[in-house]
Amino acid sequence: MSMSPPVGIDSLGVAFPSQYLELADLADARGVAPSKFVDGLGTRRMAVPGEDEDTVTLAARAAREALALAGSNGEDVGLLAVGTETAVDHSKPVASFVQGLLQLPRAMRVFETKHACYGGTAALQLALDWIRSGSARGKKALVICSDIARYGLRTAGEPTQGAGAVALLLSEAPRLVALDAGMSGIFSQDVNDFWRPLYSKDAQVDGHFSVKCYLEALEGAYRGYQGLAAPTAHARFSDRFAAIAYHVPYGKMAVKAHRHLRTLDWDPAPDASFERLVAPSLHFPAEIGNVYTGSLYLALTSLLASGGEGLEGQQVGLFSYGSGSCAEFFSGTVLGGATARVRSLRIPERLAARRRLTVPEYEAVMVSREEMDARPAGDGKGAPFHYLGVAAHRRTYAPAES
Ligand code: CAA
Repeated sequence: MSMSPPVGIDSLGVAFPSQYLELADLADARGVAPSKFVDGLGTRRMAVPGEDEDTVTLAARAAREALALAGSNGEDVGLLAVGTETAVDHSKPVASFVQGLLQLPRAMRVFETKHACYGGTAALQLALDWIRSGSARGKKALVICSDIARYGLRTAGEPTQGAGAVALLLSEAPRLVALDAGMSGIFSQDVNDFWRPLYSKDAQVDGHFSVKCYLEALEGAYRGYQGLAAPTAHARFSDRFAAIAYHVPYGKMAVKAHRHLRTLDWDPAPDASFERLVAPSLHFPAEIGNVYTGSLYLALTSLLASGGEGLEGQQVGLFSYGSGSCAEFFSGTVLGGATARVRSLRIPERLAARRRLTVPEYEAVMVSREEMDARPAGDGKGAPFHYLGVAAHRRTYAPAES
């Protein structure tokens, strides 16, 4: 383990739409056995964004929560990056909209990063190194992962949609998770497993091939991590971790990932450790669905909120995968008090307060969202932090206090 100062995640915030679809309802409507979605894919519900929600509004809400949890007004932030694969403009970054909505100071780097679901991790790792190098001069980095996972209606990917954002405030005095410096196993290759052409709102995916690519990348990244790690007395390499959070496009993918990882550890019963090491990270993803860049960090949030205080002081493994592809296996230590801090966000209560959509309501929202990028802004009034439409080619949002 590295002797560098424990730079890591000081605070986090999570945002998700206030409406969801029960996947058993979708299965009924599509003439599929509900058990295929619920047991076969390991999905339960998926968040459905409203007609006035987008990557910006989700990012801004998550960021506001992360800053509030840290007791920060943003003055101590020197870098703001948004990782997303569902950006709202070819040029202007989501991060600039967030800076404006949150009225953050101007002496900060503001940009967007893209590499499918890995885009947020790319920003996170660069921001951590910026802090570790001393260039940050004590400033914090705000890295936000925000996405709306959208496939076409009646496609195989339809039950694996979702929407949400996770904001991570990174600092040299973290209160949630200290991330291990230099401990990253990396795997990347040029591959067409999942992509979204410029002319389409819906993702394209070679579904079964994408699963194969994910597992191949996991193997490469995990082997890379193993090559960097010091030996321990544990019988299986991954038993050094109290938990492992994976990128979760749907719950079953985490099952397949963990089975593969434990097989690489020569575990003759590769599923036996799943409940102990992985299940606590899947509660929130099962409620919200795939959130692309935020998926790993939603899993980590779920782990911190439900893993219990026994997790504190323990090392956890983290696996990020972005199609196309780039993957990283890295690790960190959960800090004292972290689980109570994350529980104070009351995420289960907020999930329970959401509205359940019918399938026709969900389909209507999906169709309506196809036109939202060109929708006129109307009278300029709307719910705080929500998307109003376009005025003079400018995307507009209701400010916090309107
Ligand atoms: N009861 C219980 N289980 C059932 C069932 C039933 N009645 N019917 C089928 N199943 C099981 C199948 O046996 C299968 O299980 P296993 O994978 O364990 O064998 C599972 O349900 C899924 O069945 P299919 O493989 O037939 O499902 P499908 O072909 O309709 O599509 C999918 C599955 C390819 C994952 C599709 O949902 C998809 O394309 N999703 C989007 C792509 C994706 O998420 N890829 C993940 C890796 S890429 C990535 O991670 C990046 C990212 O975020 C997109």
